[in-house]
Amino acid sequence: MDLKEKIRNIPNFPKPGIMFRDITPLLSCPDSFRESIKQLADHYRDQKIDAIAAAEARGFIFAAPLALELNAAFIPVRKPGKLPFDTNSFHYELEYGTDTLEIHTDAFSKGDKVLLVDDLLATGGTMNACVKLIEQSGAEVVSCAFALELSFLNGRDVLAPHDCFALMTYDDEN
Ligand code: PRP
Ligand code: MG
Repeated sequence: MDLKEKIRNIPNFPKPGIMFRDITPLLSCPDSFRESIKQLADHYRDQKIDAIAAAEARGFIFAAPLALELNAAFIPVRKPGKLPFDTNSFHYELEYGTDTLEIHTDAFSKGDKVLLVDDLLATGGTMNACVKLIEQSGAEVVSCAFALELSFLNGRDVLAPHDCFALMTYDDEN
């Protein structure tokens, strides 16, 4: 099954010159969505993952079913003010302005092997914030997994030396 056939390309969204890779056709096809989770699970099945952490909102879509498939904890990483218990925060710079992500302080036990998941690797800023939150907590980042990677934005360089894995790669905007 070619999962890329289920990604819709939308030119000039959200701004001119950007080709948006829309995952909603994949999500609306159970066979394709199931296959994407299976391929991610098969890649990590032997790595004894204790927990899967993901940033809202689109990261949750792939992370939750993957956590069940790998019999791992699901740990939400959220935007500020959403988590009710004590949190650790990580502030990071964007092209314009700053952003913050938070995680519960009791999300992990020391040494837990954590797989980070998101729908998309672009600049790597979001995933790098997740990596920092996991490392602050004393857990171990095993790998960063994505459904899609925009390799021309070099997000892997930001995440190095952490391992990255993507189901689908786009080398340019076309
Ligand atoms: C998108 C996407 C990734 C991130 C990738 O999230 O879901 O999380 O951008 O970009 P980066 O590698 O440059 O950080 P977005 O912030 O649009 O929010 P959403 O998941 O809530 O839609
Ligand atoms: Mg996101």
